Amino acid sequence: MSSRLALYARRAPRPVHFSEMLKFGPTPHPNTLLATSRFLADEISVRLAHRHAELESLPYGLSTTREAALVREWYSISFNELTRFYDDLDRHSRDPGMAPAWTKNWWHRLGQSDDSGSKTSTADVPRGVAATSAVVEPTPSMPLTPDRYYTPNPPPLPPHMQDAVPQYTKRFTSLLHGIVERHNPVVVTVSKNVPRLLPAHMPQHHPEVQAFLNRFHANRVGVRVLIGHHLALSNPKARRFPNHIGIVCTKTDTVAVAQEAATDASEICEQNFGVAPPVHIVLANQTTISDSDIASSAALSLVYIPSHLHHILFELLKNAMRATLLKHTPSSGSPIPPVTITVTPTATNISIKIADQGCGIPRAQLANVMTYAYTTAATSVAPDGSNSATAAAVDDLFTGSELQAPMAGFGYGLPLARLYARYFKGDLSISSTQGKGTEVELTLRRDWVNDDEQVVL
Ligand SMILES: Nc1ncnc2c1ncn2[C@@H]1O[C@H](COP(=O)(O)OP(=O)(O)OP(=O)(O)O)[C@@H](O)[C@H]1O
Ligand SMILES: [Mg+2]
Repeated sequence: MSSRLALYARRAPRPVHFSEMLKFGPTPHPNTLLATSRFLADEISVRLAHRHAELESLPYGLSTTREAALVREWYSISFNELTRFYDDLDRHSRDPGMAPAWTKNWWHRLGQSDDSGSKTSTADVPRGVAATSAVVEPTPSMPLTPDRYYTPNPPPLPPHMQDAVPQYTKRFTSLLHGIVERHNPVVVTVSKNVPRLLPAHMPQHHPEVQAFLNRFHANRVGVRVLIGHHLALSNPKARRFPNHIGIVCTKTDTVAVAQEAATDASEICEQNFGVAPPVHIVLANQTTISDSDIASSAALSLVYIPSHLHHILFELLKNAMRATLLKHTPSSGSPIPPVTITVTPTATNISIKIADQGCGIPRAQLANVMTYAYTTAATSVAPDGSNSATAAAVDDLFTGSELQAPMAGFGYGLPLARLYARYFKGDLSISSTQGKGTEVELTLRRDWVNDDEQVVL
C-alpha cells in the first residue's frame, strides 16, 4: 500500500447529513458544486482507502487471490485519480499572487462559512483548513478541503479563477463517471471470489464473511449515492426532472414506482417462465388504486431516491413471482394467484408489503434468506458470475443500462434490498409459511433526511 493510501486509511470518514443533499436546490451555484467536489474528492478518497486496506487484510487467504488484487487495483487507481485532481488545482492556485486570493481566502473562508461550531485539526492526519484559524499550507498529504459536504454561500472567486470553474467541474464529473464505470464489475468480482475460495470449514454464511460483505456493500452504496448525487447535480439535463434535487425526488410517488417495478419484474418473469402472476396494488383499506388516485395521493409520496426504491421493489417482486410460479406451475392450467402490493401511509412512514401465495420458506431456512449468497435458485451463478441478476441490477442503478437479468440465482437480492432500505433508515422484514406464501414488508421513513449517513468501516 502506498504511504498516501495508508495515511488516508487512518482518517475517520465524515458522514454526510442527509439534509445537506437537499440544500443544493434544483439549480446549484457552480461555486457550491466546486466546494462540494473538493470535499468529495477528499472524502471518497478516505473511504476508498479504508476499503483498500480491508481488501489487503481479509481472513482465510482471500486477500491473496487474483480477484482481490484486481479490485484493490481499481480502488488504488481511483484513489490516485481523486487525490491528484486537486493537487492540480492547488498548483494552479498557488501561482505568485494567486495564493492570497485563492488558497488563503477561498478554501479558508469555505471552512469558516460553516456554522457548526469549533473545529480542531490534527497534525498527524490530513484535515481541511477549516479546522484551525491559522491557514495550514497544503502538502500532497494535507489537502485543503471544506470541512463539510454542503457549503452555504461560498465566497466569490477571483474572476480568472471563476472562469476556470466550468472546466474543473467538467473534468471532475468525467473523473467520477470513470470511477463508476471502473467499479461496476466489483459486485460480481467480489461475490465470485468469496464462495469459491473459502475453505470447506468456512461456509460463506459464516458471520465473519457476512460482516465483511455487509461492510463492503454498505460502503459501496454510500460512495455511489454521493457520486450519483453529485453527477446529477452537475448535469443540467438532470435538472429538468420535476421535483428533483440531484438524484433525490422530493415527491417520490411510491405507487408509481411500484407499478414500474411490477412492469419490469413481470417482463423478466415472462422471459424466464413464459408467464407472470398478476400484480395488484392496493391501499391499506384494500381499495384497488386507480390511475387517477395515484396523482392526487400526496400521502403516498415521500422524499426518496426513486431508482433505489425501484431496485428494492423489483428484487422483492421477482422473488414473489418466482415463488408463485414454483407452486402454481403454468402447465397445471389452474389460475395463477396474484402478487399483492399493499401501500400503507402513516404520518411517519410508508409501509409497502409484498405478499405472494407461492411456495413459502421453510421455517428452518427463514433466518438464512437475508444472508449474502443464500439461494435456492436452480440456475445458480455461473462460474464467471455472468448470470448474476442482482449484481447487474445494482450496477444498472448507476449506469442506467437496460435490465437483462434472470429471475434469481445470486442470493444477493434480499440482503442488498435490506441494505438499501437501511441506508435511508428504513427496514425490510420477512414472514412466511411454507406451502402458503410469503410477505415482505418494506418500511420507508419520511424523516430520513434528518439523520446522518451511517458510514460502515
Ligand atoms: N417471496 C419468496 N417466497 C419464497 N422464497 C423466497 C421469497 N423471497 C426469497 N425467497 C428465498 O430466499 C432466497 C434468497 O432470495 P434472494 O432474493 O436474496 O436471492 P435469489 O432470489 O435466490 O437470487 P438474486 O440474487 O438473483 O435475487 C431465494 O433463493 C428463495 O429461496
Ligand atoms: Mg431474488
